[in-house]
Amino acid sequence: MKGLKIVSTGSCHPQNAVSNDKLSQTVDTSDEWISTRTGIRQRYFCESEKNVDLASNAAKQALERSGISADEIGACVVATFTPDNATPSVACMVQKRLGLPNDALCFDMNAACSGFIYALNVAHGILMQGGSKYALVIGSEVISRVLDFNDRSTCVLFGDGAGAAVVTLSENSVYEFTCGANGDDAILCCPTSGGLQMDGREVFKFAVGIIPVCIDKLLDKSQLTLEDIDYVACHQANERIISHVVKKMKAPSEKFFVNLQKYGNTSAASIPLALDEMASGGMLKEGMKIICVGFGAGLTWGGIMLEW
Ligand code: ACO
Repeated sequence: MKGLKIVSTGSCHPQNAVSNDKLSQTVDTSDEWISTRTGIRQRYFCESEKNVDLASNAAKQALERSGISADEIGACVVATFTPDNATPSVACMVQKRLGLPNDALCFDMNAACSGFIYALNVAHGILMQGGSKYALVIGSEVISRVLDFNDRSTCVLFGDGAGAAVVTLSENSVYEFTCGANGDDAILCCPTSGGLQMDGREVFKFAVGIIPVCIDKLLDKSQLTLEDIDYVACHQANERIISHVVKKMKAPSEKFFVNLQKYGNTSAASIPLALDEMASGGMLKEGMKIICVGFGAGLTWGGIMLEW
């Protein structure tokens, strides 16, 4: 089977940076509580920006860096649980802003914090059908709109942002995918009317259990070991979740990228935001093998192994 290659990445965050101290002015919390329990130092909250603004800016940057033109994009898949409208989709609005072709397949999908991983695999499937060479995969969220700012144990964890990737098929590169869901609305739930609710301890247990399972599955399928993998980019929910996994897997912590201190948990945007920062920072070289793992409401989980 052909693999999936990330040709280029892009990202966008809202203008308004909200430090823990700034958040403490309106929420009964403190920088000390948030940073010691989660590693988060700040997040961005949209003021006037919409989901489509973040998604389009991230996609535009990825497209510019790819060197290909908009009319070569055959599909635009946006992973989000916070679209601007029930319909039209964010993807259709990105199509309009970027001038993607009319025959491009444009749609949103919701797998919560696993969304970007699912979307990469969906794009892989679309490209495997033939007909087009490139797809745009975007994770974009305006979570600030659905937060309950009276629930201090939840609202301090999240932020807004978007990341995007131009992807194409590749002949001889490693590609593995794994995913799952277990139909639970008690641990993590966001009603359409807003008011994200979460049982933090249960989410923690779920996350530290499922991340190693995903990584081991991908390694098993590819017959590789963690030593063969250059970087792991997990969904950026909480530094303690990542440290716990590092310990459990007896892995070197440098392999596990962390940038949640700047963004908080941006759900479907967190993995493409991480990849874009890694790529822009020169960490990712051609041929490197990376694993990305998402986990979130649903409860859903998904892992992907790619070659850069
Ligand atoms: N500021 C100050 N105090 C707080 C805050 C806050 N923001 N939130 C809760 N507290 C207080 C509580 O009221 C409680 O006080 P009490 O002991 O006087 O009753 C105390 O802190 C402990 O509260 P807990 O909820 O038990 O805190 P815990 O140690 O479990 O940490 C946390 C909470 C950080 C959310 C932890 O459970 C966690 O890391 N869970 C993972 C959740 C996560 O990362 N979810 C991401 C979203 S979902 C996803 O992306 C898949």
